[in-house]
Amino acid sequence: MTAQPYDRHYQTRDLFGDPLPALIAFFEQLQPGRRVWDMGAGQGRDTLPLARMGHQVRAIDSSRTGLDCIAKAAAAARLANITTLCADVHSLKVAPECQVLLFDAMFHFYKRDRASEMALLERVSNQLSDRGILACAVPANQTTAANLALLHQSAWASWGRLTDVESRHEHTGTLYRFLALEKVP
Ligand SMILES: C[S@@+](CC[C@H](N)C(=O)[O-])C[C@H]1O[C@@H](n2cnc3c(N)ncnc32)[C@H](O)[C@@H]1O
Repeated sequence: MTAQPYDRHYQTRDLFGDPLPALIAFFEQLQPGRRVWDMGAGQGRDTLPLARMGHQVRAIDSSRTGLDCIAKAAAAARLANITTLCADVHSLKVAPECQVLLFDAMFHFYKRDRASEMALLERVSNQLSDRGILACAVPANQTTAANLALLHQSAWASWGRLTDVESRHEHTGTLYRFLALEKVP
């Protein structure tokens, strides 16, 4: 993949700081060993702690620089349960092995991106296996709320809500909404 916008930003170590408390709390109460796909994994803000909990994490990003940060940190911490994949999430098919699909800070539903973000969420929701979990952290605001509400009426109409809470990112002070849904057949 050619140079990506985030490559330059990822010269800064731990660009996004600590993970969201609500996201960590959610994954901590899952049975360890879940096969998690971290979509747009960045520098591994979530990948690394999830792997430390014992989950099997596939870190996917279009930034090779971000994935290199993850691979180095995984090697230093002797975490053998992380794999990386350089790919565009818009053209990636969710495989049946994936048990938890995570999108952290990937969706903002800005006008120019809204259609493609909604299409991506609908597609991966359809592809996810039954009993699979979709976890998302999005900025808590009226725009994201309106778009998530539409998904609750369509792609997620029959899904179970495992958690839906607000959580503040200490590094930036931004309030996020973290939700996790289970696909019910
Ligand atoms: C705001 S960062 C969030 C990183 C990480 N999820 C976190 O919360 O720390 C967004 C990440 O998504 C990646 N990304 C954006 N669009 C992508 C795409 N179409 N396919 C794969 N990765 C993408 C970027 O390279 C970047 O690393």
